[in-house]
Amino acid sequence: MSGAPAPKGAVQGRPAGGDGPLVVPRHVAIIMDGNGRWAKKRMLPRIAGHRKGIEAARTVTQAAGELGIEVLTLYAFSTENWRRPAEEVSDLMGLLRHFIQSDIDELAKNGVRLRIIGNYTALAPDLVALIDGALERTVRNSKMTLVIALNYGSQAELVSVMRDLANRAKGGSLDPETIDEAMVDGMLDTQGLPPPDLLIRTSGEQRLSNFMLWQLAYAEMLFVDTLWPDFGAQALANAVAEFGARERRFGGL
Ligand code: FPP
Repeated sequence: MSGAPAPKGAVQGRPAGGDGPLVVPRHVAIIMDGNGRWAKKRMLPRIAGHRKGIEAARTVTQAAGELGIEVLTLYAFSTENWRRPAEEVSDLMGLLRHFIQSDIDELAKNGVRLRIIGNYTALAPDLVALIDGALERTVRNSKMTLVIALNYGSQAELVSVMRDLANRAKGGSLDPETIDEAMVDGMLDTQGLPPPDLLIRTSGEQRLSNFMLWQLAYAEMLFVDTLWPDFGAQALANAVAEFGARERRFGGL
């Protein structure tokens, strides 16, 4: 046993206009849910909800930077989302393509580093090339990291690590006794990132949906009824305030 993992998701204290320190999570992860219902309520096609969802993602990314959040992870497309009708999958890919093309300049200018978790190389070759270009272009930025989960599934991510470890052990280059939490951490798509301190899921659903199962071990969870397209800067600020009011013990007393 390597012992209990250190509480890596430490929070930052920031002065907030004389009202005492505002505790800001280093890493916020969001399951953006409710685009379809937002559209349905307005008798609009689902794509209209996704379009609004992109706008919300843009607003929340900017607000996260202003709050001093270091890492923002957005669950944009899961390995299970391929089960949606082909037309919706294609609409989502089109929106993603458009988002990268239209927002990369602004992200780069604002010091945002883009990262992708998930097997994005299985997407259409032009999209992969676009993403690679955006990754390359922002690799030296350090003000904030925007992580987009694309074709991401936490179980697949973990299986890939397990397979890798098993192959190394089989080949004789790894002693299984030396496997520890830090080694696994370093083999995940999120390697080098702090674990999420706060997970937010919108739209009233209370599930993890195969999202960052390892990384969320000590995250605070916040489930809000707001549909993702209606989630904005104020909603993020409220979530951060709620996070600040929580007591985190990381298994201790
Ligand atoms: C959930 O709504 C949302 C998704 C499937 C992800 C799509 C996300 C966006 C378009 C925003 C993308 C942001 C970036 C940065 C690319 P849903 O369709 O599951 O809603 P429903 O549960 O109401 O049907």
